Amino acid sequence: MNNHLPYRSVNNRMNIMDNKHGARIESMFNRISPRYDLLNRVISGGRDLAWRKKAVDLLGDLHGGTALDICCGSGDFLQVLLDRYGTDIKLIGVDFATGMLDLARLRFGENTSHRLLLGRADAMYLPLADSSVNAITIGFGIRNVADRDLALRETYRVLKPGGKIVMIEPSSPPNRFIRALFLAYFKYISPFIGGIISGDRAAYCYLHDSFIAFPPPEEFLGMMKKAGYPIVKAYPQFMGTAIIFFGEKS
Ligand SMILES: C[S@@+](CC[C@H](N)C(=O)[O-])C[C@H]1O[C@@H](n2cnc3c(N)ncnc32)[C@H](O)[C@@H]1O
Repeated sequence: MNNHLPYRSVNNRMNIMDNKHGARIESMFNRISPRYDLLNRVISGGRDLAWRKKAVDLLGDLHGGTALDICCGSGDFLQVLLDRYGTDIKLIGVDFATGMLDLARLRFGENTSHRLLLGRADAMYLPLADSSVNAITIGFGIRNVADRDLALRETYRVLKPGGKIVMIEPSSPPNRFIRALFLAYFKYISPFIGGIISGDRAAYCYLHDSFIAFPPPEEFLGMMKKAGYPIVKAYPQFMGTAIIFFGEKS
């Protein structure tokens, strides 16, 4: 590990393996990783890129700072940060699925510079020092985490005072008609497309189920407050089909 970054080298493999839910999710993402990027674009209709850019806007100026992307997957959020800040930012991406991390390594190069560090870690046990990063991004990841309260407390712990977090998750649109269409899309069409492209329909059924199980925005904002964030906000996107959650550490 590179000592330019605030990475605390601890072996959190036990934590990952002890957690049955986590192990199931990890193996599912490893299975679908070869087709993940293509499917992500198709299923979100390409809109996720605009949401990521907007989320990065909310983080304010990060020149010279350090940003952590949790549940980084193939590195879509890291890419937006890299495109915006170039070498004027230190980036850390963590994910517990090696298949997804391999995609990120392929994308950014096996020998990532000291400005970009990729590592295997569980969102519930971040191997980082307290108050060590200026910003955190989590794209479509927090809903998969077994203990979201614990993961949110971890984000609060590793953020510097004044640091900001943004998380994107799909959401149930307020309009009844759009909601019905959206839910039908998520329940029937995305598993169908996912099944054809990845050969793993069950994984895309899980995405629908995890979406249904995710708390409503007000409740999630309450969880962020409980984790310590004094300032929290929700920014609905595209007719409320996705939400950017924002938090700031005092
Ligand atoms: C839907 S993908 C999103 C990937 C990426 N953030 C994006 O925006 O495209 C969810 C990712 O979260 C990771 N993940 C889920 N639970 C995790 C956990 N507890 N700790 C670390 N990574 C986790 C999965 O391995 C997967 O790569």
